[in-house]
Amino acid sequence: MKILEDRILQDGTILPGDVLKVDNFLNHQVDPQLMDQLGAEFARRFKNAGVTKVLTVESSGIAPAVMAALHLGVPMIFARKHKSLTLTDHLYTAKVYSYTKQGNNDISIDRRFLSADDNVLIIDDFLANGQAVQGLLDIAESAQIKVAGVGVVIEKRFQKGHQLVKDAGLPLVALASIAKFENGSVTFAQD
Ligand code: G4P
Ligand code: NA
Ligand code: NA
Repeated sequence: MKILEDRILQDGTILPGDVLKVDNFLNHQVDPQLMDQLGAEFARRFKNAGVTKVLTVESSGIAPAVMAALHLGVPMIFARKHKSLTLTDHLYTAKVYSYTKQGNNDISIDRRFLSADDNVLIIDDFLANGQAVQGLLDIAESAQIKVAGVGVVIEKRFQKGHQLVKDAGLPLVALASIAKFENGSVTFAQD
């Protein structure tokens, strides 16, 4: 998506460890107008997929996910992150390993918000190693619901997440796809 690529080139900075900092429009300060455009594009790409709910993980997935849900006319649910809980009977939970934070979190969604006839669209801000998406796929499997696809604002194509989603046989929409970082600049994938 041209407008997003331009914004990344304008405002993004590359940090050591192949991390793209985009905290002035996505990860800290949020640009609502841009989020609305991203949400509209996700909705356009998944409009015939029979999506009943949009799923994400707090916190940075929420802004694009709620806009996608708005444009699809469905609810958005964000999985909550926490350290391992004891009383989890009313929750679907999954373990998520974060490479950047080098630790495990549990994520959970209340069972009341998912039902057998759901067909969910997973949305996130970044697709890097794909652990957050994997956690949501684990929850979808526990809840025995269908997954319509995965939409991410920015994917780093050179990390494991892209292939993980493909191997799961799911449609993947990345609004910006980064092929590599080189000499302090971003190269976008061509397809
Ligand atoms: P994954 O989400 O693909 O599994 O990614 P990974 O474990 O590699 O990264 C952990 C966290 O770092 C995730 O956020 C992910 O979105 C974020 N991240 C990964 N690569 C980048 C990057 O290049 N730039 C930025 N800004 N973030 C990146 P989180 O800690 O789970 O979430 P949140 O609290 O920010 O929502
Ligand atoms: Na993040
Ligand atoms: Na995220």
